[in-house]
Amino acid sequence: MRNFDAVILGAGAAGLMCALRAGQRGRRVLVLDHAPQAGAKILISGGGRCNFTNRDTRPERFFSANPHFCKSALKRYTPADFLALVEKHRIAWHEKTLGQLFCDHSAREIVAMLLAECAAAGVEIRLGHRITDVSRADHYRVQTDRGDFTAPALVLATGGLSIPKMGATGLSLDIARRFGLPLTETRPALVPLTFAGEVLELMRPLSGVALPAVARLGRHSFPEAVLFTHRGLSGPAILQISSAWREGQAIALNLLPGAEDAVNLLVARKAARPKAEPRTVLAELLPQRLAQSLAAAWLPDRPMAMQTDRDLRRVAGSLAHWSLTPSGTEGYAKAEVMLGGVDTAALSSRTMEATTVPGLHVVGEAVDVTGWLGGYNFQWAWASGWCAGEAL
Ligand code: FDA
Repeated sequence: MRNFDAVILGAGAAGLMCALRAGQRGRRVLVLDHAPQAGAKILISGGGRCNFTNRDTRPERFFSANPHFCKSALKRYTPADFLALVEKHRIAWHEKTLGQLFCDHSAREIVAMLLAECAAAGVEIRLGHRITDVSRADHYRVQTDRGDFTAPALVLATGGLSIPKMGATGLSLDIARRFGLPLTETRPALVPLTFAGEVLELMRPLSGVALPAVARLGRHSFPEAVLFTHRGLSGPAILQISSAWREGQAIALNLLPGAEDAVNLLVARKAARPKAEPRTVLAELLPQRLAQSLAAAWLPDRPMAMQTDRDLRRVAGSLAHWSLTPSGTEGYAKAEVMLGGVDTAALSSRTMEATTVPGLHVVGEAVDVTGWLGGYNFQWAWASGWCAGEAL
């Protein structure tokens, strides 16, 4: 049995940040993880280049039952703070789009940076440890297949349920529940949407086609790329809207985000190119394969001159507001994150400590705070981990 000031479960983004901050403050910290490698999700993130933060981080860009909860942590540990750390380690970076910051070379540099900071702060990291039980008497006691560890503080940082193939588990949720903390409903987010029936028949042959669009649902609107897949839709605009989507709801796609007036455009084309096929005219506006499929599905098979203005108006309306009801999502196997988690009502927004269980902290994706696509989820992991590390 070995004793520490804090035991952190999970050597991911939030756990490592929490550990290095607590270590810098002189705490004796142990990080335990069942994986053979620390920061596995960091390594695969951003296509291997890690979209490590977003310059435009704001509380409105996070989903949570309590949208105010994330404000304190995001204000105390900002994208500029993380960027300063990245620059201290001379990691080359660039802004890709929409405030998204990526490594120029490899996500491995971010993991190496976190591990170097942990080592400098005297943090002990033990990988490949299966956690078999967690209990609390005067101290928290964590039992593993390779020994037991105790500490007056325990941090739950094992992330969410997405990508179980990589070893994601609900351990933090299970332990939180065991200590009486409430959970909000969890579901896959930032995930491709699936379709069935006729719509899928239309989409499947378009697999691989991508175009700029706007995905809308209620007050949410994301102008980014949409990608057709063999199961439905993906691409950044769809991943974003998936976080707001609930079963049974329709999403709307505007496939002509740049076109001011699609109706006039189609009616004008009818006059200017009466002999043209509708698919040829639509191909002026959309990728060719998509134009071909939509023309076949939405208009009679005859030249533009023989199309009614009513039909052209209807098609223009559908291009600007294509209402689609997904049958589901591709689930945790393909989701970048989990929505929901430990209810923020049970946590201090300053320290991430459970208000009813002294010494128990929850950080990162296990908390009911989920960011948009684009570096927001790492920023939440850094910020929540840092705040807990400050309090240990
Ligand atoms: P994280 O998942 O990082 O760490 C949890 C740790 O706990 C892991 O090391 C795991 O092994 C360990 N663990 C789990 N269960 C355990 C158990 N039972 N016992 C012991 N250890 C256990 N975000 C972003 O902002 N920018 C991006 O570019 C991307 N890209 C991206 C790509 C892909 C493919 C995915 C799946 C996700 C992203 N994300 C992202 C999301 C981001 O990876 C995620 O939000 C953070 O890693 C969450 O950090 P945590 O520390 O909470 O969990």
